[in-house]
Amino acid sequence: MASVAKRTTLPLAEVRLKTHFKDQQLHDLVTSSRTFPVTARVDVQVALERLFSGYPEAELLGLHNQYGHETLTIAHVLSNSHDPVVISPLQHEEVDIGEILPAQCLRKGLWLAHDNGMPFGLLLSAAVHFTQVNGVHIEVIVPPGEPGAKFCRALFEELETLIRGTASYRGKVLSLEPADRYSGHVGALRVHKLRSVAREQVILPERTLQLLDRNVGDFIKQREQLKKLGLPVKKGILFYGAPGTGKTHTIQYLASHLPDHTTLLVTSEQVAYLDHYFQLARFLQPAMLIIEDVDLIARAREQMRGACEESLLNKLLNEMDGLREDAAVLFVLTTNHPELLEAALASRPGRIDQAIEFPLPDERGRRQLVRLYACGLPLDDEVVESTVRRTERGSGAFIKELMRRAAQFYIQNGSDGKLTSDHVNSALEEMLFAGGSLNAKLLGAEGVAARETIH
Ligand SMILES: Nc1ncnc2c1ncn2[C@@H]1O[C@H](COP(=O)(O)OP(=O)(O)OP(=O)(O)O)[C@@H](O)[C@H]1O
Ligand SMILES: [Mg+2]
Repeated sequence: MASVAKRTTLPLAEVRLKTHFKDQQLHDLVTSSRTFPVTARVDVQVALERLFSGYPEAELLGLHNQYGHETLTIAHVLSNSHDPVVISPLQHEEVDIGEILPAQCLRKGLWLAHDNGMPFGLLLSAAVHFTQVNGVHIEVIVPPGEPGAKFCRALFEELETLIRGTASYRGKVLSLEPADRYSGHVGALRVHKLRSVAREQVILPERTLQLLDRNVGDFIKQREQLKKLGLPVKKGILFYGAPGTGKTHTIQYLASHLPDHTTLLVTSEQVAYLDHYFQLARFLQPAMLIIEDVDLIARAREQMRGACEESLLNKLLNEMDGLREDAAVLFVLTTNHPELLEAALASRPGRIDQAIEFPLPDERGRRQLVRLYACGLPLDDEVVESTVRRTERGSGAFIKELMRRAAQFYIQNGSDGKLTSDHVNSALEEMLFAGGSLNAKLLGAEGVAARETIH
């Protein structure tokens, strides 16, 4: 009873709409709508604010109805249903866009304004599909006839341009969050804060660095010219190499240095949303789409366990193939097992254009890694050289962990002088032998361990 009494005291949106279109019968009015992806929600909000800044006399009404299990439409506002739409205070939600402050997004709202004397209204609400929010519903209501229809088309066009121009997520590192794991629907976007990696922190052989420059840095700089020549500006790169050789590290370096690029991170458990990721990459281009451990989804067909796995591989290949050649999207796939990859993925240009090997570091690389991960602790050249000798076949990750443990021994011994071979030896002993062979394996020290036991 209380809720009925409360409902009747709030003004009905329908009544306000009637006064706005005073010379028109409500059932003569025409509406048209568009649904934007839920991931464009913040951009839609900003675009609407910009759009209505051109209509200073526009009025914005907050809307409320009791049941939210379907999309709120203008028909719903006009129908005298059991669930009347009433005018209420504006309700906002906070959405993280990776800035210091989250963006404020309106849940539901109705703008009423005039364009050259013609009344119109615009409704914003959540597009709901089987109780799941899967988009942003925008609906425009105008008087019947050609001027109204023309205005409506122009308005949507302007809105789309504004949305593309806003792209609050551009230049950030993103992944999709499932709305809930049970339904498998895609919900919001998650903005990642990756550590920034400087070029001097990426220790790779000169040849590998040159390949990276040519295929990423230079390629991106030349994109405009390539486009003018009618050449494709999408590109697929495969990073392959043993665990801990710096593939993810290099991706972090690229993500923090590619100008204006949005980075999309697809984890292997999220490949079911590949089409959403491709849609987003197209929307936010230039973009870099990262699929780590791609062998998990793209294993050679004969090694697949069922139809589900196979369809994921097909999905990836189709999406990569289907992306327009002028889409400024860079795919970076990584794997420890290139030999397991389906031949179609690895060998067909247009899917993977360049494979880049991440080898175990050579002597020069290990020297640089030891210095880098000593993190400024003073150490003599002989200590560096003996560490380099003793870490043959060790990965970058292994050397990083070794130096961290050596630093721990250094701190523990209360040393304030130099980091010595004793510190490094104690760390090596701990990593290679103290924990047994499983420990050595876990630390990626198998190759190193084998040598150490021989000598
Ligand atoms: N080539 C390298 N240069 C500098 N640091 C490195 C290098 N390789 C590894 N590291 C260090 O080791 C850490 C782990 O390496 P990373 O995660 O990049 O390996 P990965 O090749 O992605 O391994 P996986 O195949 O297991 O995913 C990095 O965060 C980085 O600090
Ligand atoms: Mg990795």
